[in-house]
Amino acid sequence: MEVSEHIKIIKATASAPSNIAIVKYWGKKGVQEPVNPSISFTLSKSVTNTTISYQPSEDKLDIRFLFEGKSKDSFVPKLQQLTSRISAFLPFLEKGQLIIESSNTFPHSSGIASSASSMAAISKALFDVQIQLSPECLRDNKDQLISEMARLGSGSACRSTQKGWVLWGQSAEIASASDKFGIGINQQVHGNFMSLQDTILVIRKGAKSVSSTVGHQLMDNHPYREGRIHQANKNIKKLLQALNSGDFAMFAEVCEEEALSLHGLMMSSSPAYTLLAPESLRAIKRIKKFRDHHHLPLTFTIDAGPNIHLIYPKAQSKIIVPFIEEHLKPLCENEEVIYDEISIK
Ligand code: DP6
Repeated sequence: MEVSEHIKIIKATASAPSNIAIVKYWGKKGVQEPVNPSISFTLSKSVTNTTISYQPSEDKLDIRFLFEGKSKDSFVPKLQQLTSRISAFLPFLEKGQLIIESSNTFPHSSGIASSASSMAAISKALFDVQIQLSPECLRDNKDQLISEMARLGSGSACRSTQKGWVLWGQSAEIASASDKFGIGINQQVHGNFMSLQDTILVIRKGAKSVSSTVGHQLMDNHPYREGRIHQANKNIKKLLQALNSGDFAMFAEVCEEEALSLHGLMMSSSPAYTLLAPESLRAIKRIKKFRDHHHLPLTFTIDAGPNIHLIYPKAQSKIIVPFIEEHLKPLCENEEVIYDEISIK
C-alpha cells in the first residue's frame, strides 16, 4: 500500500487462490445468488495477483485492464459490471481512473477457475483502495463484505476470498450460511481432508464452447431444476457429515455424483450440450478401475469443462502419482498435468 500526495495515485495489491467445488453451484436467482448451496476448497499454487492504481478525478469511472502485462479490453465489461454493482459499498468507484493489472500463477484455460481467483483478488484490492481514501469506513464485517463483492463479479469467487473449505448459499445445515457471501468451515473439517491433493488432467485447453454464465441461465427452465436443488441440498448434508467424520468413501460418493450430475444437467438442458471429451470418460474409467483394484482413497471432480480434477490425500501420492504419469498423462493435451493441493493458511 502506498499513497502519493503529489500525483494522488492510490495503489493496492492483493492475491487470491482459485477454488474447486465439490458440491457445485449451478443456477442463479436475483443478482448473482445461487439456487443451491455449494462447498469448495481453495487451491495452493493456483493464485491471481492483482495491483490496482486509482487516480481520483471528477470524471465518470474509467477502467483499464491489463492481464499479464498486456491490455485486455474484453474483460473490461465484466469489471464495469462489478464496479457498478459494488459502488454502493465502495463509493470511490463512482468516479476517477482505475488501472487493474492481474496475473495468474497457473496456465489459462487449464480447467482452473480464473474468474474466481481474479474477482476475489480484485475485490480485496478495491476494498483496500477505499480504506486508504476513507479509513473511517473500515468495517468490522470486512471479510464478509469482500466475499459479497467478489460474488457480484463471479459467483464462485465468493468462495476464494478466504482459505480452505468454504460454504456459500443458505443451507438447513448451518444457520450462518448465506446466499450473499461464503463462510469458512475449516473448523468443522477432519484432518483427513486438510492435505488433499488436486491434480488436474488438462484433457483439452482452450475456451469452452458454452460458458458457465450461459450454463447457469439454462437452469432457469431446466426440466430437472427442482430435482437438482433437492440433490444439492442432500449432498451438502452428506458432504458436511463426511468432512466432519473424516469418511473418504462418503466424500467420494458426493464428489462423483456432483461432477457427473453437473454434466448430466448440461446434456439435458435445452439446447443440450456437453463439454466432456472422449478422453475425459476414458480417464474416469481408468481412475475408477485403479482405485477399486487398490482400494485407494482417490476420487475425482469435474468443473464446467472437459478437464478432470483428481482428489486424494497427500499420503497416497507415492502410489497415485506414478499411475497418473503412466496412465492418465497420455490422455491430456500436450501431456499437461497440474499438481496442486488444498490451501488452508
Ligand atoms: C461449475 O462462478 O464461473 O464451476 O457466477 O456466472 O461467474 P458466474 O459463474 P461461475 O460458475 C461456476 C460453476 C462451477 C461450479 C462451482 O464452482 O461451484
